[in-house]
Amino acid sequence: MSRGPLNDEKIVDSWTKNASPWIAAIRDGQIESRLACTDGAIVEAVLSCSPKSAVDLGCGEGWLTRKLEDQRVDMIGVDVIPELIEEASRIRPGDYRMASYEDIAEGHLNIKVDAIVCNFSLLGKEPVEDVVRAARSLLNQGGSFIVQTPHPVFACGDAPYRDGWRRGSWDGFAAEFTDPAPWYFRTLSSWVNLFIDSGYLLREIREPVHPESGKPASVILVAGTHT
Ligand SMILES: C[S@@+](CC[C@H](N)C(=O)[O-])C[C@H]1O[C@@H](n2cnc3c(N)ncnc32)[C@H](O)[C@@H]1O
Repeated sequence: MSRGPLNDEKIVDSWTKNASPWIAAIRDGQIESRLACTDGAIVEAVLSCSPKSAVDLGCGEGWLTRKLEDQRVDMIGVDVIPELIEEASRIRPGDYRMASYEDIAEGHLNIKVDAIVCNFSLLGKEPVEDVVRAARSLLNQGGSFIVQTPHPVFACGDAPYRDGWRRGSWDGFAAEFTDPAPWYFRTLSSWVNLFIDSGYLLREIREPVHPESGKPASVILVAGTHT
């Protein structure tokens, strides 16, 4: 387990505190890069895998779950924060479940789907590594695991380009946000190796470019099971 002020437990604490402003931020379209680039990119990446069913891990208030349902994908949404799962179910009743990545790694999510999608929701260290490894057993044969995360080269900032815990920040977000979650920075090769070492085949890497800055807003990894 990670110790010190930057650790996996702190991530869940922070999301518990910030569930309400997060719900408002998504409802009111407060995150410009999502509207301009990354929302469309993740929907397109998932649909390119043609899944009939999928699970949205770390679904938050469920916007992506609803968006993919609208595209006729049978969806399950999973998150550890009760307020987010309640909001998702309130906006549109569906198959929402409350579970942490730790729960999933321990085998408490008994489902089989064609795709797993994580949109900016793989934030920590051990629980992320454990859930990625364990999630293979949730996939039907030929299934896909699609992850969108900030592009490491651009999210790195002035710190050295190597894996490690980073302090979070709500810069650019509404004043209601508090106590930002730390996050575990991974280089691009670490993301790739996380999937390969967990027994997946890396099928594709996408780098959605923000239309105004001309820089990658994120990276999307599409991994699959070996057939
Ligand atoms: C940046 S939000 C993204 C939410 C959603 N995927 C979206 O695109 O709006 C990160 C999400 O990951 C969830 N999360 C973080 N750590 C988690 C864990 N250990 N188990 C389950 N969910 C977790 C948080 O509760 C939060 O909803």
